Amino acid sequence: MQRPVAQIDGLGIAVPDRVVTNADFEKTLDTTDQWIVERTGIRERRIAAPGEMLTPLAVAASERAMAQAGVTAADLDVIIVATVSGDRRMPSQACDLQAALGAANAAAFDLGAACSGFVYGVSVAEGMIATGQGRTILVVGAERLSTITDFEDRSTAILFGDGAGAAILRPSDGRRGILSMFLKSDGRLAPLLHIPGGGNLEPPSEQMIRDRRQFMKMAGREVFKAAVLAMAEATDEAIRRAGISPDDIDLLVPHQANVRIIEATAKHAEIPMSKVMVSVDRYGNTSSASIPLAIDQAVAEGRIRRDSLVLLVAFGAGFTWGSMVVRW
Ligand code: UT7
Repeated sequence: MQRPVAQIDGLGIAVPDRVVTNADFEKTLDTTDQWIVERTGIRERRIAAPGEMLTPLAVAASERAMAQAGVTAADLDVIIVATVSGDRRMPSQACDLQAALGAANAAAFDLGAACSGFVYGVSVAEGMIATGQGRTILVVGAERLSTITDFEDRSTAILFGDGAGAAILRPSDGRRGILSMFLKSDGRLAPLLHIPGGGNLEPPSEQMIRDRRQFMKMAGREVFKAAVLAMAEATDEAIRRAGISPDDIDLLVPHQANVRIIEATAKHAEIPMSKVMVSVDRYGNTSSASIPLAIDQAVAEGRIRRDSLVLLVAFGAGFTWGSMVVRW
């Protein structure tokens, strides 16, 4: 087993107060609670209120992670925010977070890897710790997906939620920390899950807005199949690179997009569902925030403890995917 370079010392989350249930969608869309639960496993999600921005959510999650790790804003060397739904296009969400935290000594930047963003962010932080560029690094997955969700499209509206999760990465004590890491992408599949309008390809216009092309478009069935294959590869690689066997894993924490994808991933990895974290029922798909939200719940339920071997695996737009084994 590899000697870890970096460890997660603190974790915090924050979600909007507003809960939107499947029954709420029954009033506005041609859908049912039964369809949503059977096809996705989602029962409710948090949706930000009008005017409720992402920065305060990211701040709340970060402050909880910092308190748990026993560090202050002045200690932060680097702030990495993984997001596809920041409060504005420029400057970065990470710089807005830095200002709000008062983290005067940090370098701050955003990372674009969609739902795999948290795993990618932790990987970048690990590399920066390994090369001595930072000793205390804040990695945040934060999303206000409700801004880029088409609430008139039943095939996507019911899937997504808002939230933020933050982790403090620091040099490993030599035993705890990241034991393996695997990242991969396939940009050829981008059209299966993307936002067509609002960028250089289709600049903002009245027509673009009328056609609702500022919102996420997804070929659900194709994305589903790709997610199952990619997450299978990612679980295999993380386990192999850590030099362990599936039986050693105490908890699998997959990206929370669809309980059927989670079940297929667990089956492939030969990990029983009793050792798999599912939180998609209460938060929906929160993209880069989904893994930290699931970890937070697992810790609260006593399913992750000090020294637990945890396998994280993610998949998202790009397509991007990735995984890691962590000794907690
Ligand atoms: O975060 C990473 C990226 N995202 C994902 O990993 C999501 C991957 N995809 C999925 O989770 C699933 O494909 C969905 C949940 C999006 C859809 O489930 P599905 O079993 O693949 O359904 P489908 O798209 O094949 O649609 C089946 C039927 C269609 O009706 P017809 O054509 O068979 O008459 C849809 O129009 O279900 C219909 N449908 C709905 N019915 C009721 C689609 N959305 C809804 C809905 N309520 N909300």
